[in-house]
Amino acid sequence: MIHFRKAVPADIPLIRKLTLAVWPQTYSDILSREQVEYMLEMMYSESSLQHQINTQQHRFIIACDDDEPVGFASWSSTPDKQVCRLHKIYVLQNQQGKGTGKKLIEHIIQSIRSAGAIILELNVNRHNKAGAFYSGLGFTVVREEDTDIGNGYFMNDYVMQKSIVE
Ligand SMILES: CC(C)(COP(=O)(O)OP(=O)(O)OC[C@H]1O[C@@H](n2cnc3c(N)ncnc32)[C@H](O)[C@@H]1OP(=O)(O)O)[C@@H](O)C(=O)NCCC(=O)NCCS
Repeated sequence: MIHFRKAVPADIPLIRKLTLAVWPQTYSDILSREQVEYMLEMMYSESSLQHQINTQQHRFIIACDDDEPVGFASWSSTPDKQVCRLHKIYVLQNQQGKGTGKKLIEHIIQSIRSAGAIILELNVNRHNKAGAFYSGLGFTVVREEDTDIGNGYFMNDYVMQKSIVE
């Protein structure tokens, strides 16, 4: 059975392991290998994850099937206290399509709703199939965003939002 636990800094190696299992499959048709490596270093290095957890107050949860970690997600508040931002959601490929991603989103929504948020927002690459996953959960595209991440690389995203008002 799927359950969630809050991740702590000691889980960083696990988060990195899950990421390295999912990222190449997710982005190999969308981004160059060099850009994937650049972004992994930027967003998933030990020090970057430490910074997200300890300084930026990103909350991470690990999804476990019985005792086996199968995915994770992270989110945080934003300067607009009514808007929370989903930063990451990844489920191992052989575990996808079993409802874990949806349960992760539902868990996050419950948590942020009780903290007073009314909108959950995220960025998704415009070519990522996950866009259809988010649409199915009620997210809609509010704008396109092309972000220069350095080294000549860009993130070409949709910004999507979902109202979480009951
Ligand atoms: C996107 C992701 C998190 C979804 O998690 P998941 O556990 O596979 O999704 P679920 O099984 O919970 O699916 C929930 C619903 O979304 C639908 N769905 C899932 N992936 C979908 C897709 N690619 N296209 C359309 N619908 C999709 C499911 O059919 C299901 O619908 P239902 O509730 O009507 O049955 C997961 O597939 C993943 O990790 N993908 C690779 C990494 C990634 O792209 N992350 C997002 C980065 S922005």
